Amino acid sequence: MTSSGQHADRTLNQSWVRRFQFRLLDLGCSLKLALAKPLARKLRRSMSFLASYEDLFQVRGAPYDMAMSLFPDARREEFVNIIQRADLKAGQLVGDVPAGGGYLARYLPKTVHWLGHEPCANFGSGQKDQELLPLPWTDGGVDAAISIAGVHHLANKQPLFTELARTVRAGGRFILADVHESSNVSGFLDGWVDRHNSTGHKGIYIGDHTLNELRETGWQIFSAERVPFHWRFADTDKMAEFCHRMFDLRTCRPEETSRVIEADLGIDQLEDEVGMRWELFIIVATPVAKV
Ligand SMILES: C[S@@+](CC[C@H](N)C(=O)[O-])C[C@H]1O[C@@H](n2cnc3c(N)ncnc32)[C@H](O)[C@@H]1O
Repeated sequence: MTSSGQHADRTLNQSWVRRFQFRLLDLGCSLKLALAKPLARKLRRSMSFLASYEDLFQVRGAPYDMAMSLFPDARREEFVNIIQRADLKAGQLVGDVPAGGGYLARYLPKTVHWLGHEPCANFGSGQKDQELLPLPWTDGGVDAAISIAGVHHLANKQPLFTELARTVRAGGRFILADVHESSNVSGFLDGWVDRHNSTGHKGIYIGDHTLNELRETGWQIFSAERVPFHWRFADTDKMAEFCHRMFDLRTCRPEETSRVIEADLGIDQLEDEVGMRWELFIIVATPVAKV
């Protein structure tokens, strides 16, 4: 997907289509919840032929996109935290990979141009599946590149980092935001989510070793911090609904998920919202000058 930031708004505006898909998904979810857990596990095992995470997102992309459409502001703090590290100026081109359904675009300043690239068609872009690499951007063609919650699906992240070093201009920035290997978030994803979702979840998370992987692929590290923030909801029922859709949880009840989130991640009562604690490791890098 390579298009302007208007794409995300257009997608979010197709609400009647969303509502219809939502009802279908609801029906599907009820059926799935009715399945006994062993049967669900058997079904999951029978899906283990799926070769890659691209395949997994053929299953998980639509519910993930639905969660983001129904709760478009839940991850606002996350996107804002990431964007503010990009030091964006008017007129700049911002690459976003893997972009999912283009959720970042609506938080970018109106004066920049968003270029999203998503390998999996199931995020509602209307495009066909495409390869992650090579990136569809020219040498030095973007001012900043942003990658959110995608590289934990890649065993070898260096081909992507190398491609980004090719496409981000000298002096530009790469903001890598993903789950830290030692965080409560990785424990939640590889624990509760892995046990109860449609595809299983085993992330290959980032950590200090990622800084070396970046240096080896043409990047200089500007900053690296574990950044805590909240996903925000009206109440814990909405929080659980979002998580069930986003992670495609099928063999547990929303109230169980709420309890696990409270115990494993933590929930804070904010002014008029409930804040689910989340955290990403955010690395800011600049391309090493090419000689
Ligand atoms: C958790 S979503 C993140 C999407 C979006 N950046 C966001 O923040 O919502 C994970 C993303 O990883 C992508 N993905 C899955 N397998 C991948 C792979 N092998 N290589 C690169 N991206 C992959 C998915 O297509 C999806 O866009």
